[in-house]
Amino acid sequence: MRKLFAAVLGCAVIATASLVSAAPKDEPKIIVPYVPTHHKVVEAMLKLAAVKEGETVYDLGCGDGRIVIAAVKDFKAKKGLGIDFNPERLKDCTASVAAAKLTADQEKSLTFKQGDVLKMTPEEFKDVDVVTLYLLPSVNRELKPVLLKGLKPGARIVSHDFDMGDWKEDKKIEVDADRTHTVYLWTIPAAK
Ligand SMILES: C[S@@+](CC[C@H](N)C(=O)[O-])C[C@H]1O[C@@H](n2cnc3c(N)ncnc32)[C@H](O)[C@@H]1O
Repeated sequence: MRKLFAAVLGCAVIATASLVSAAPKDEPKIIVPYVPTHHKVVEAMLKLAAVKEGETVYDLGCGDGRIVIAAVKDFKAKKGLGIDFNPERLKDCTASVAAAKLTADQEKSLTFKQGDVLKMTPEEFKDVDVVTLYLLPSVNRELKPVLLKGLKPGARIVSHDFDMGDWKEDKKIEVDADRTHTVYLWTIPAAK
C-alpha cells in the first residue's frame, strides 16, 4: 500500500515537474500532494520524537496543521510552526486551530506561514527541537543536508512513510490505522 501511495505521489510530482517551465517563478520545484496524516499516526510520530514540554516543533508541508496543533495541545510544546506553500492549506490551519479548542496561550504559540520548504536555510532550524515530515523520499533527501547542518545535536526528525536514502534511521515503527504506516526517527548526532 505504501508503494502504491508513493507511486501516486511520484506520478503527481512528475506531472508537476513537467509543468515547471510554465509555472510562476516562486512555485516550488517539487510539490508534494496533500494527504493528511491519520490522527493516530500523528500521535505516534510525536511520541516517537519524544516531544517534551517547552520544545519547538516544525512541520514542513503542514497541510491542515494537525501535527503542530497536537504538539502544542497534547505534548505541551512551547512553539509550533507549520509551513506550507499552498494558501488553501493555511486556511485549513486557521479552521483547525478554531476547531481544536486551544487555550489562548496555546493559540499564541502556533504560527503558520506560506513558503517552500526546499528554500529553507540551516539557520531557520537552529532553535528547533523536532521536525516532522510527510513529504517524499526525494524531498527528504534534499532536506537532509539543510537539517543536518541547521539542527542542534539531540534534535529529532520524524518522517511518515518515507526514509532519507543513505541516512539510516535510528528507529522505525509501524502504526496500524486505516493501513499500516511506517514512522522513521533520526536524532542529530553530537559530531556532525
Ligand atoms: C502529504 S501532505 C502532509 C500534510 C501534513 N504534514 C500531515 O502530515 O498531515 C504534504 C503537504 O506539503 C505541502 N507541500 C508540498 N510541497 C511543498 C513545498 N515544496 N513547500 C511547502 N509545502 C509543500 C502540501 O501542500 C501538503 O499540504
